[in-house]
Amino acid sequence: MAAPVPISEVKGNARENRTAAHSHIKGLGLSNGVANTSGGGFIGQAAAREACGLVVSLVQKKKMSGRAVLLAGGPGTGKTALALAVSQELGTKVPFCPIVGSEIYSAEVKKTEALMENFRRAIGLRVKETKEVYEGEVMELTPEEAENPLGGYGRTISHLLITLKSAKGTKKLRLDPSIYEAIQKERVRLGDVIYIEANTGVVKRVGRSDAYATEFDLEAEEYVPIPKGDVHKKKELVQDVTLHDLDVANARPQGGQDIMSMMGQLMKPKKTEITEKLRLEINKVVNKYIDQGVADLVPGVLFIDEVHMLDLEAFTFLNRALESPLSPLVILASNRGLTHVRGGENLPPSPHGIPPDLLARLLIIPTHPYAPDEIRKIIETRTRTEGLTVAPPALEKISQLGEKVSLRYALQLLAPASVLAKVSGREAGRIEVEDVEECEGLFLDARRSAQGLNESKGFIA
Ligand SMILES: Nc1ncnc2c1ncn2[C@@H]1O[C@H](COP(=O)(O)OP(=O)(O)OP(=O)(O)O)[C@@H](O)[C@H]1O
Ligand SMILES: [Mg+2]
Repeated sequence: MAAPVPISEVKGNARENRTAAHSHIKGLGLSNGVANTSGGGFIGQAAAREACGLVVSLVQKKKMSGRAVLLAGGPGTGKTALALAVSQELGTKVPFCPIVGSEIYSAEVKKTEALMENFRRAIGLRVKETKEVYEGEVMELTPEEAENPLGGYGRTISHLLITLKSAKGTKKLRLDPSIYEAIQKERVRLGDVIYIEANTGVVKRVGRSDAYATEFDLEAEEYVPIPKGDVHKKKELVQDVTLHDLDVANARPQGGQDIMSMMGQLMKPKKTEITEKLRLEINKVVNKYIDQGVADLVPGVLFIDEVHMLDLEAFTFLNRALESPLSPLVILASNRGLTHVRGGENLPPSPHGIPPDLLARLLIIPTHPYAPDEIRKIIETRTRTEGLTVAPPALEKISQLGEKVSLRYALQLLAPASVLAKVSGREAGRIEVEDVEECEGLFLDARRSAQGLNESKGFIA
């Protein structure tokens, strides 16, 4: 294998945020292992939350290896939300990798390969590196211009003058113009605290100096004190990457300015390049870093929703992967009852469509449907996080829909109803009953949709 890519050059491959519907969930909301009626954004579902809390302590005591968790319950009972909360309880920066069972079927990549990739997305590595940096509050930021060497009237930036102040003194730096771009990208202004890595020129904005904290500012800003010590110093930097990030960074053909590699950068990275051999090599390097105390392993959470979509082959792989020393916490979720395992239609049906040998390794946590007042509170919490104003009668109406139809349906109506409310030009975009009724007319729920189809004998008339 080629020399491993330095970790500081590994970019995260985080996928688009799939957890937006759960942004109100901040944790399991337990105190001393007992669920508060509402805590961490959670309402009700107390037993399941307490069980999840136990799982968190088992993971922290490293007693979960070889086992996994199954959240079993009806649609919209908070299974996905619970899995997310478990990862939050395990700590910030713990990787959370949510997938859906059917995601592993692709024409390009083998099923087990796709599963392996997601296992590695769920295992983090925290790397501590001591680097030479210039750190301080920006006191001066002046680009020095020069005549454009190519002629014409244009001007180019020849140098960047920057003055940084720390508790012990100030330092004036004359930097390469390439750093100016990095500074613009980070939106650095006068009065910000930044650091510049001496060897790589990487610029990081730490926050706004707290000397400006009294300044009237509506933006959410993080105020930080002026850095201690000298401007030029050694600083311990911490970087979080996942094993999958490392795989990708090492698999991608390196360098080259020719057109093929330019195209390669534009196109999606080819998945088949990551071989088993490469992974083994990376594991070796990772283990070495861990032994040397340079890095810590941060096992995260792999959440497989709709687990009945996996087939026998995938389940066998899961069994084996759970026992590997590099395994994240695996949380499965299913809203199915007794059903055939995919690929095992000739075998007797199995609970949740999961084969018995895997079932035996699972801690099964049931989730239950919500009572009407819990539904109302969940909807209220959601309106607050989405920043919506809802008239009390409209809230009443939405809660009733949540009871009669489903919690999902009610939550889904919030966004279109708020659009209607804004269009109608009402003060502060307040949602009224008429908006909810209009949405109800515009969007069918599953039951009404099925009814309509039954009447039309298989055709959409
Ligand atoms: N106890 C709760 N407290 C607060 N919000 C909740 C609670 N339970 C569910 N929610 C919210 O309700 C919505 C639906 O829940 P979720 O997606 O977790 O259900 P699910 O059990 O995964 O359903 P499915 O089987 O359809 O996947 C989400 O926006 C979730 O954040
Ligand atoms: Mg779900």
